[in-house]
Amino acid sequence: MVEDVQTAGEKIKAFVIGDPVSHSRSPIIHTHWLRSLDITGSYEAITVKSGNLPSFAEALKSGQNGYIGGNVTIPHKETVFELVDHVDETARKIGAVNTIWMEDGRLKATNTDAFGFAANLDARSPGWDACGKAVVLGAGGASRAILYALTERGITDIHLINRTASRAEALAARFGPTIKPGGMEVLPAALEGAGLFVNTSSLGMDGTTAPDLDFSTMTSGALVTDIVYVPLITPFLAKAQTQGMKTVDGLGMLLHQAVPGFAIWFGTRPEVTDELRQTIINDLELHT
Ligand code: ATR
Repeated sequence: MVEDVQTAGEKIKAFVIGDPVSHSRSPIIHTHWLRSLDITGSYEAITVKSGNLPSFAEALKSGQNGYIGGNVTIPHKETVFELVDHVDETARKIGAVNTIWMEDGRLKATNTDAFGFAANLDARSPGWDACGKAVVLGAGGASRAILYALTERGITDIHLINRTASRAEALAARFGPTIKPGGMEVLPAALEGAGLFVNTSSLGMDGTTAPDLDFSTMTSGALVTDIVYVPLITPFLAKAQTQGMKTVDGLGMLLHQAVPGFAIWFGTRPEVTDELRQTIINDLELHT
């Protein structure tokens, strides 16, 4: 981890790179923390086209562009692997990078999404990981961080359900026998007796509807969560709430995944507060 990066008056600069990147809420989150912690620094969104990623990484490594590091988003989360000097075990297992930084002259990389997912549930539903059986819907890019988080927390009975069953099977092969893959037709049976349901699919985004699920067959006290946060109350969460289930929305994952990056770049571990959460909710209401 980077320490002593802030000498008196020196401005530390961080970024989020992607294409497109203007939708990213990361600048609001990090700027909020820079201000509230009174740190001399900046965090900005930079559009980097795929063809320009190698030269951006070179400028970062040589110190030419003056950045300490930043976040990496679509479409660079996988291609950046080739350009960094060191990728940690977490990012390797998830198969994607979202945070990079210069340390001892080397460009290092990690992925904080699994941390963000678990930290959000720790904050909003402590003890969530004593769930027994877990059901994860979706086997796309976002699913891998969730499977990693669940596995790290020692959950050994994970049902991975996906519209395209072969993608669930491929992920199960990657993560090992604790992951049981299946198609949508086995979802109702998988939910029976489960203590946790996580939607990682894009179902419910952009006004799409969620399948008609019966969450009440889960254990009493079971938790339903969604990593989608636009809308904040997704169709999955709305349905679960009408069935009397405990729910946690996905916004907290976005906030918590930002914590380790900020700590690495700026040397101070920030807090996820209700004030920050409300700031992002206000922005989402303005721009969606
Ligand atoms: P991300 O990186 O955000 O996970 P992705 O890799 O495109 O995005 O994955 C989207 C996920 O949502 C996939 O699991 C996808 O299922 P398929 O693998 O079958 O495509 C799932 N998904 C998207 N639209 C869906 C729909 N209408 N019904 C069921 N699953 C859907």
